[in-house]
Amino acid sequence: ASTGLAATPPMGWNSWNHFAGKVTDADVRAAADALVASGMRDAGYVYVNIDDTWEGERDAQGVIHTNSKFPDMKALADYVHSKGLKLGIYSSPGPKTCAGYEGSYGHEAQDAKSYADWGIDYLKYDKCSFGDVIRKEAGNDHAKAFAMEKAAYKKMHDALAATGRPIVFSLCQYGDNDVWEWGASVGGNLWRTTGDINDSYQRMAEIGFGQLVQARYAGPGHWNDPDMLEIGNGGMTEEEYRQHMTLWVMLAAPLLAGNDLSKMSKETLALLTNKDVIAVDQDAAGIQGVRAWAQGPLEVWRKPLSGGAMAVALFNRSAKPQSITFDLKTVFLDENAKLRNLWTGENVVISGDKYVTTIPGHGAVLLKGTPAKIPEVACSSGPWNEHLGLP
Ligand code: DGJ
Repeated sequence: ASTGLAATPPMGWNSWNHFAGKVTDADVRAAADALVASGMRDAGYVYVNIDDTWEGERDAQGVIHTNSKFPDMKALADYVHSKGLKLGIYSSPGPKTCAGYEGSYGHEAQDAKSYADWGIDYLKYDKCSFGDVIRKEAGNDHAKAFAMEKAAYKKMHDALAATGRPIVFSLCQYGDNDVWEWGASVGGNLWRTTGDINDSYQRMAEIGFGQLVQARYAGPGHWNDPDMLEIGNGGMTEEEYRQHMTLWVMLAAPLLAGNDLSKMSKETLALLTNKDVIAVDQDAAGIQGVRAWAQGPLEVWRKPLSGGAMAVALFNRSAKPQSITFDLKTVFLDENAKLRNLWTGENVVISGDKYVTTIPGHGAVLLKGTPAKIPEVACSSGPWNEHLGLP
């Protein structure tokens, strides 16, 4: 990967979750305007990422062009850059994208050059029809299929690198072949770990609470990507969206808002822009959080932060409010710890080494505790599986 890119998890906006195949140049400009006007840019959301359906035809020389929804990609990039933001784009290693538009298969170097000429800063590279190419050429030969997949991603990475422009490289192949084990080696700055999220509590929670095996592979420059945010899209309650944001920051996940930024409630904006909450995600140590304790619908997660602090999330996975007795020892804190509630900004008063509180249905409490005595096993590539009770 280009050095220094994605030192912390990328933050920004992506068109897919709200606009899907309808996204236009005007929508992207409106998103850029809203990032600035809402204060989101200043909170760290700088990538404006166009997903699938911008693609047009190739000309006689094979050069890719935009379709009529995007009259001038270079002008759009200039506009986005003039706002102090960066522009992301989307393609596939296959001949077609998932929505049936033109992919980069056989045109990787040419496309990378087009992106660099336009001023693109981020590429999401979505497997889509490359799966068919693999099936056709490799059949049941799993080793060959795996090699083809890795080679396809490396090929585009190398093409991007050859342009000399720093372009964040996002692997989107839904976690196939345990991508977290090799994503960084083919130049990925982030890689999706699952199939698509949708705007439902059930799917969000299924993804968010299921990110343990890959946790150890996250770090500066190379992140696990549990997919884009659904906050503000309307399918969950405010407390469910709070749990969504809390999980994503604990996972050191990319924070790509997926809502219509030009029509955002103040509750949505507050969930997306709490500085202390974002700081957990963007912590320089780049350690992905893990589950520390679970009982019934209640879970406690910990994420070691730089400077000897511990982010702690208390989750309630049931729809009804639940009382929790949180034992600080489960996250390497003791009775001397200072605890702050990051969503409310209030200091938390504890007696001894227990904190008793009530978590709303499908809700979350996010705390920061200092000082934490963090053992090596909890914050490095140490024997995490044993520690987490995983096989
Ligand atoms: C599948 C990806 O996982 C989604 O995030 C989105 O990019 C669509 N493809 C677009 O076709």
